[in-house]
Amino acid sequence: MSATPIMTKDRKKVTTLALRRKKARGEPISMLTAYDYGTALAIDRAGIDSILVGDSLGMVVLGYENTLPVTMQDMIHHCKAVARGARYALLVGDMPFLSYQVSVEEAVRNAGRFLQEGGMDAVKLEGGRERLPAIEAIIGAGIPVMGHLGLTPQSVHLLGGFRTQGKTAAAAQRLLEDALILQEAGCFALVLEAVPAQLALLISERLEIPTIGIGAGAGCDGQVLVTHDLLGLFDRFTPRFVKKYADLHDEMARAFQAYKAEVETRAFPAPEHSVQMDQEEWEALLRKFRWAEDDGRSAGSD
Ligand code: KIV
Repeated sequence: MSATPIMTKDRKKVTTLALRRKKARGEPISMLTAYDYGTALAIDRAGIDSILVGDSLGMVVLGYENTLPVTMQDMIHHCKAVARGARYALLVGDMPFLSYQVSVEEAVRNAGRFLQEGGMDAVKLEGGRERLPAIEAIIGAGIPVMGHLGLTPQSVHLLGGFRTQGKTAAAAQRLLEDALILQEAGCFALVLEAVPAQLALLISERLEIPTIGIGAGAGCDGQVLVTHDLLGLFDRFTPRFVKKYADLHDEMARAFQAYKAEVETRAFPAPEHSVQMDQEEWEALLRKFRWAEDDGRSAGSD
C-alpha cells in the first residue's frame, strides 16, 4: 500500500452533515482514535472520515486501568496536538468522566473548551436519557454532540465490568429508546459499543443519524476502533471485536533491541550519521592547539 498523502485538490473538510449524507447514500463511515500530532497526520492522510480523541487515552497512552482518571486538562492537551495534525477529518473530542455529569452549566462550559481551546469540531459523551438536559444544552450552545450507548466505559463499575450490553429483550428495548431520544435531542451521530449485531442493525435502520459501531457488528453505518488496538500497540489486552492490522508493539521491541545492540557494538552511528568539519577549519583548529601547547611548554620551562 502506498504511503502517498491523499491531498487531492477537491478534498473537503468532513462535516457532521457530510456523515449524515454518507449514511443516506449507504456509504460506510470510517473513524479512528488519535491522541497525538503524528498519528492524526497519518490518519488524515489515509482519508479516514473522522478522528476521535477518545478518553481511551487514559488506558492506551497514560497507562490507567480504566478511563475514569482522565481529566479535562489531559483531553484538551491531546486534542490540541491532534488538531495540529489533521486538516480534513471531522474531529470529535471525548468528554471525560465528571466533565458533563455534575451540572448542565459545567457540561456546556467543558464542551465549549473542546472547540475553543482543543480545536475540535464536536464532542462525544456517554449515556442515554439521563444525559438529556446536558446534551440539549450543549447542542443549544451550537456544539455538535455525538452520543455513545451500549458499553459506556465511564460507567464500568456500575455495569460490573467491560461487558456486552443490550443482550436481553428489555435491555435492548431500552437501548433503542435511548437511541431515539438522543436523535430527537439533536445528536449528529451515535457510537454503539459492545452490543449484539442484530440490535445494532435494528437501531441503525430505525435512526436517520449515523451509528458508528465498535464491537457492534457490520450493520452499523460506520466503524470506529482504538488506533492502538488496530496497530497492535497496546499489549495489555485486546478486546475480541478488535482486528489487528499491524503488530507494532513487537516491531518496536525489535527496533529498540537492534538500536541497543548497535550502540553497544559502536555500529551506530556510522559515518553517514555523522557530520565532518571542513578540512581547512579542522587544520586551523589543530594549529591553534599546537601553538597553545608549545606556549604552555615554553612558559613552564622558565
Ligand atoms: O474513548 C474511546 O476511544 C471511545 C471509543 C472506544 C468509541 O469512546
